[in-house]
Amino acid sequence: MSAITMDNQFVTDGAPTAGTLERSTPFFSVRDIHAYYGESYIVQGVSFDIRQGEILALLGRNGAGKTSTLRTIARAGDPVLRAGEIWIEGKPVHHMKAHEAARAGIQLVPEDRRIIAGLTVEENLELAQVAPGRGWTLERIYGHFPRLAERRRQEGVTLSGGEQQMLAIARALARDIKLLLLDEPYEGLAPVIVEEIERILHEIKPLGITTVIVEQNAVAALRLSDRAVILDTGEVAFTGSAREVLDNTELRHEYLAI
Ligand SMILES: Nc1ncnc2c1ncn2[C@@H]1O[C@H](COP(=O)(O)OP(=O)(O)O)[C@@H](O)[C@H]1O
Ligand SMILES: [Mg+2]
Repeated sequence: MSAITMDNQFVTDGAPTAGTLERSTPFFSVRDIHAYYGESYIVQGVSFDIRQGEILALLGRNGAGKTSTLRTIARAGDPVLRAGEIWIEGKPVHHMKAHEAARAGIQLVPEDRRIIAGLTVEENLELAQVAPGRGWTLERIYGHFPRLAERRRQEGVTLSGGEQQMLAIARALARDIKLLLLDEPYEGLAPVIVEEIERILHEIKPLGITTVIVEQNAVAALRLSDRAVILDTGEVAFTGSAREVLDNTELRHEYLAI
Protein backbone atom coordinates (compact mmCIF):
# COMPACT_ATOMS: atom_id res chain seq x y z
CA MET A 1 0.00 0.00 0.00
CA SER A 2 1.39 3.32 -1.02
CA ALA A 3 0.31 5.08 2.20
CA ILE A 4 2.44 2.73 4.28
CA THR A 5 5.40 3.15 1.98
CA MET A 6 5.03 6.91 2.24
CA ASP A 7 4.87 6.80 6.03
CA ASN A 8 7.83 4.48 6.31
CA GLN A 9 9.83 6.77 4.12
CA PHE A 10 9.43 9.59 6.62
CA VAL A 11 10.12 7.64 9.79
CA THR A 12 13.45 8.12 11.54
CA ASP A 13 14.79 6.23 14.50
CA GLY A 14 17.53 8.45 15.86
CA ALA A 15 18.42 12.13 15.66
CA PRO A 16 17.68 13.69 12.30
CA THR A 17 20.65 14.51 10.12
CA ALA A 18 21.03 17.85 8.35
CA GLY A 19 19.14 17.99 5.10
CA THR A 20 16.63 15.31 6.03
CA LEU A 21 15.17 17.38 8.86
CA GLU A 22 12.32 18.88 6.91
CA ARG A 23 11.15 15.57 5.49
CA SER A 24 11.72 13.33 8.47
CA THR A 25 10.46 15.37 11.42
CA PRO A 26 7.49 17.69 11.79
CA PHE A 27 8.23 21.39 12.09
CA PHE A 28 6.70 21.48 15.56
CA SER A 29 5.81 18.59 17.76
CA VAL A 30 4.24 18.09 21.18
CA ARG A 31 4.76 14.56 22.47
CA ASP A 32 2.85 13.22 25.44
CA ILE A 33 3.22 16.29 27.66
CA HIS A 34 2.09 16.22 31.28
CA ALA A 35 1.91 19.52 33.19
CA TYR A 36 0.91 20.50 36.73
CA TYR A 37 -0.05 23.57 38.73
CA GLY A 38 1.39 22.48 42.05
CA GLU A 39 -0.16 19.07 42.60
CA SER A 40 -3.05 19.73 40.18
CA TYR A 41 -2.53 17.47 37.18
CA ILE A 42 -3.93 19.48 34.26
CA VAL A 43 -2.28 18.67 30.90
CA GLN A 44 -2.57 14.89 30.77
CA GLY A 45 -0.58 13.45 27.89
CA VAL A 46 -1.25 15.86 25.02
CA SER A 47 0.39 15.13 21.65
CA PHE A 48 0.14 16.79 18.23
CA ASP A 49 2.31 17.78 15.27
CA ILE A 50 2.18 20.88 13.09
CA ARG A 51 3.68 21.41 9.67
CA GLN A 52 5.34 24.68 8.86
CA GLY A 53 2.85 27.33 7.78
CA GLU A 54 -0.13 25.38 9.04
CA ILE A 55 -2.85 26.86 11.23
CA LEU A 56 -4.04 24.53 13.97
CA ALA A 57 -7.20 25.18 15.99
CA LEU A 58 -6.83 23.99 19.59
CA LEU A 59 -10.39 23.67 20.84
CA GLY A 60 -12.39 22.36 23.75
CA ARG A 61 -14.78 23.47 26.45
CA ASN A 62 -13.92 25.97 29.14
CA GLY A 63 -11.38 24.43 31.50
CA ALA A 64 -10.30 21.76 28.98
CA GLY A 65 -6.66 22.79 29.30
CA LYS A 66 -6.13 24.95 26.20
CA THR A 67 -4.46 27.90 27.92
CA SER A 68 -2.40 25.51 30.06
CA THR A 69 -1.19 23.71 26.92
CA LEU A 70 -0.17 27.00 25.25
CA ARG A 71 1.61 28.12 28.42
CA THR A 72 3.44 24.81 28.64
CA ILE A 73 4.60 25.15 25.02
CA ALA A 74 5.79 28.73 25.62
CA ARG A 75 7.55 27.46 28.78
CA ALA A 76 5.73 30.06 30.86
CA GLY A 77 6.85 28.39 34.10
CA ASP A 78 3.34 27.63 35.26
CA PRO A 79 2.08 24.94 34.73
CA VAL A 80 5.23 22.88 35.26
CA LEU A 81 6.08 20.33 32.58
CA ARG A 82 6.90 17.07 34.36
CA ALA A 83 7.01 14.65 31.43
CA GLY A 84 6.93 14.66 27.66
CA GLU A 85 8.72 16.49 24.90
CA ILE A 86 8.22 19.61 22.77
CA TRP A 87 10.29 20.11 19.62
CA ILE A 88 10.64 22.99 17.16
CA GLU A 89 12.76 22.42 14.06
CA GLY A 90 14.56 19.60 15.83
CA LYS A 91 15.32 21.72 18.94
CA PRO A 92 14.15 20.49 22.36
CA VAL A 93 11.78 23.16 23.69
CA HIS A 94 11.06 21.03 26.77
CA HIS A 95 14.56 21.87 28.03
CA MET A 96 14.07 25.62 27.51
CA LYS A 97 13.05 28.47 29.79
CA ALA A 98 10.53 31.09 28.60
CA HIS A 99 13.14 33.47 27.15
CA GLU A 100 14.85 30.60 25.33
CA ALA A 101 11.56 29.44 23.83
CA ALA A 102 10.94 33.04 22.69
CA ARG A 103 14.40 33.06 21.14
CA ALA A 104 13.57 29.83 19.35
CA GLY A 105 10.66 31.70 17.73
CA ILE A 106 7.76 30.71 19.97
CA GLN A 107 5.57 33.74 20.70
CA LEU A 108 2.51 33.53 22.93
CA VAL A 109 -0.19 36.21 22.65
CA PRO A 110 -2.08 35.74 25.93
CA GLU A 111 -5.77 36.34 26.37
CA ASP A 112 -5.24 39.62 28.24
CA ARG A 113 -2.90 40.92 25.47
CA ARG A 114 -0.61 42.77 27.91
CA ILE A 115 -0.26 46.02 25.99
CA ILE A 116 2.13 48.21 27.97
CA ALA A 117 0.51 51.30 29.48
CA GLY A 118 2.19 54.65 28.97
CA LEU A 119 3.69 53.59 25.63
CA THR A 120 2.42 54.46 22.17
CA VAL A 121 1.59 51.79 19.60
CA GLU A 122 4.98 52.33 17.99
CA GLU A 123 6.84 52.22 21.31
CA ASN A 124 5.12 48.93 22.16
CA LEU A 125 6.41 47.56 18.84
CA GLU A 126 9.90 49.02 19.28
CA LEU A 127 10.16 47.47 22.72
CA ALA A 128 9.39 44.06 21.22
CA GLN A 129 12.08 44.62 18.58
CA VAL A 130 14.70 44.99 21.31
CA ALA A 131 14.51 41.21 21.84
CA PRO A 132 17.32 39.24 20.18
CA GLY A 133 16.80 37.87 16.68
CA ARG A 134 15.32 39.32 13.54
CA GLY A 135 11.70 40.37 13.81
CA TRP A 136 9.61 42.35 11.36
CA THR A 137 10.43 46.00 10.67
CA LEU A 138 7.88 48.69 11.55
CA GLU A 139 7.34 49.30 7.84
CA ARG A 140 6.48 45.68 7.24
CA ILE A 141 4.16 45.56 10.26
CA TYR A 142 2.32 48.72 9.19
CA GLY A 143 1.92 47.28 5.70
CA HIS A 144 -0.12 44.43 7.16
CA PHE A 145 -1.79 46.44 9.93
CA PRO A 146 -2.96 49.75 8.40
CA ARG A 147 -5.02 50.55 11.53
CA LEU A 148 -1.87 50.43 13.64
CA ALA A 149 -0.09 52.70 11.19
CA GLU A 150 -2.87 55.26 11.61
CA ARG A 151 -2.65 55.02 15.40
CA ARG A 152 1.11 54.74 15.76
CA ARG A 153 1.37 57.82 18.01
CA GLN A 154 -1.61 56.87 20.17
CA GLU A 155 -1.14 55.22 23.57
CA GLY A 156 -1.55 51.44 23.08
CA VAL A 157 -3.99 50.90 25.95
CA THR A 158 -6.39 53.52 24.54
CA LEU A 159 -6.99 51.48 21.37
CA SER A 160 -10.21 49.53 20.86
CA GLY A 161 -10.19 45.86 21.87
CA GLY A 162 -9.74 44.75 18.27
CA GLU A 163 -6.88 47.16 17.68
CA GLN A 164 -5.20 46.02 20.90
CA GLN A 165 -5.44 42.44 19.66
CA MET A 166 -3.84 43.52 16.38
CA LEU A 167 -1.10 45.27 18.33
CA ALA A 168 -0.51 42.14 20.42
CA ILE A 169 -0.17 40.05 17.24
CA ALA A 170 2.01 42.71 15.59
CA ARG A 171 4.24 42.72 18.65
CA ALA A 172 4.75 38.96 18.31
CA LEU A 173 5.76 39.55 14.67
CA ALA A 174 8.21 42.24 15.77
CA ARG A 175 10.11 39.47 17.54
CA ASP A 176 11.84 36.60 15.80
CA ILE A 177 8.77 34.48 15.14
CA LYS A 178 8.25 30.93 13.92
CA LEU A 179 5.29 29.74 15.96
CA LEU A 180 2.46 32.08 16.92
CA LEU A 181 0.29 30.93 19.84
CA LEU A 182 -2.97 32.87 20.06
CA ASP A 183 -5.14 32.50 23.15
CA GLU A 184 -8.74 33.52 22.41
CA PRO A 185 -7.86 36.37 20.03
CA TYR A 186 -11.49 37.03 19.06
CA GLU A 187 -12.88 37.31 22.57
CA GLY A 188 -15.19 40.30 22.90
CA LEU A 189 -14.61 41.46 19.33
CA ALA A 190 -17.25 42.39 16.75
CA PRO A 191 -17.52 40.08 13.70
CA VAL A 192 -16.11 42.75 11.38
CA ILE A 193 -12.95 42.98 13.55
CA VAL A 194 -12.71 39.18 13.74
CA GLU A 195 -12.72 39.19 9.92
CA GLU A 196 -9.93 41.75 9.84
CA ILE A 197 -7.78 39.65 12.17
CA GLU A 198 -8.55 36.59 10.03
CA ARG A 199 -7.35 38.52 6.99
CA ILE A 200 -4.06 39.26 8.77
CA LEU A 201 -3.61 35.63 9.81
CA HIS A 202 -4.26 34.57 6.20
CA GLU A 203 -1.61 37.03 5.06
CA ILE A 204 1.10 35.80 7.41
CA LYS A 205 0.46 32.10 6.72
CA PRO A 206 2.23 32.01 3.32
CA LEU A 207 5.20 33.74 4.97
CA GLY A 208 5.89 30.46 6.76
CA ILE A 209 4.54 31.44 10.17
CA THR A 210 2.87 28.55 11.92
CA THR A 211 -0.10 29.33 14.14
CA VAL A 212 -1.97 27.65 16.96
CA ILE A 213 -5.28 29.36 17.64
CA VAL A 214 -7.30 28.70 20.79
CA GLU A 215 -10.85 30.00 20.47
CA GLN A 216 -14.27 29.70 22.09
CA ASN A 217 -15.59 30.87 18.73
CA ALA A 218 -14.80 27.46 17.26
CA VAL A 219 -16.48 28.07 13.91
CA ALA A 220 -14.39 31.17 13.28
CA ALA A 221 -11.21 29.34 14.31
CA LEU A 222 -12.06 26.31 12.16
CA ARG A 223 -12.79 28.28 9.02
CA LEU A 224 -9.28 29.72 9.28
CA SER A 225 -7.50 26.50 10.25
CA ASP A 226 -6.07 23.54 8.39
CA ARG A 227 -6.32 21.13 11.26
CA ALA A 228 -7.91 20.83 14.67
CA VAL A 229 -7.11 19.28 18.01
CA ILE A 230 -9.91 19.02 20.55
CA LEU A 231 -9.00 18.79 24.22
CA ASP A 232 -11.22 17.32 26.92
CA THR A 233 -10.13 17.46 30.57
CA GLY A 234 -6.49 17.79 29.62
CA GLU A 235 -6.44 14.99 27.05
CA VAL A 236 -6.72 14.94 23.26
CA ALA A 237 -10.25 13.85 22.31
CA PHE A 238 -9.86 14.40 18.56
CA THR A 239 -7.17 15.19 15.99
CA GLY A 240 -8.06 15.74 12.36
CA SER A 241 -8.81 18.29 9.70
CA ALA A 242 -10.75 21.47 10.49
CA ARG A 243 -13.25 20.37 7.83
CA GLU A 244 -13.95 17.10 9.68
CA VAL A 245 -14.90 19.02 12.82
CA LEU A 246 -17.12 21.45 10.92
CA ASP A 247 -18.89 18.50 9.27
CA ASN A 248 -19.23 16.36 12.41
CA THR A 249 -22.30 17.43 14.36
CA GLU A 250 -21.75 14.91 17.18
CA LEU A 251 -18.19 16.02 17.77
CA ARG A 252 -19.26 19.65 17.79
CA HIS A 253 -22.08 18.96 20.25
CA GLU A 254 -20.03 16.81 22.55
CA TYR A 255 -16.91 18.93 22.90
CA LEU A 256 -17.60 22.38 21.52
CA ALA A 257 -21.25 23.08 22.31
CA ILE A 258 -21.88 24.40 18.77
N1 LIG B 1 -2.96 28.73 37.96
C1 LIG B 1 -3.72 27.65 38.11
N2 LIG B 1 -3.65 26.90 39.23
C2 LIG B 1 -4.41 25.79 39.38
N3 LIG B 1 -5.26 25.34 38.44
C3 LIG B 1 -5.37 26.04 37.31
C4 LIG B 1 -4.62 27.22 37.08
N4 LIG B 1 -4.96 27.71 35.86
C5 LIG B 1 -5.86 26.87 35.36
N5 LIG B 1 -6.13 25.87 36.23
C6 LIG B 1 -7.05 24.76 36.02
O1 LIG B 1 -6.61 24.01 34.90
C7 LIG B 1 -7.72 23.57 34.13
C8 LIG B 1 -7.52 23.99 32.70
O2 LIG B 1 -7.53 25.41 32.64
P1 LIG B 1 -7.19 26.19 31.31
O3 LIG B 1 -5.95 25.65 30.73
O4 LIG B 1 -7.23 27.63 31.64
O5 LIG B 1 -8.43 25.77 30.40
P2 LIG B 1 -9.01 26.45 29.07
O6 LIG B 1 -8.04 27.45 28.58
O7 LIG B 1 -9.25 25.31 28.14
O8 LIG B 1 -10.32 27.08 29.46
C9 LIG B 1 -8.97 24.14 34.79
O9 LIG B 1 -9.53 23.13 35.58
C10 LIG B 1 -8.44 25.26 35.63
O10 LIG B 1 -9.24 25.43 36.78
MG1 LIG C 1 -8.18 29.48 28.33
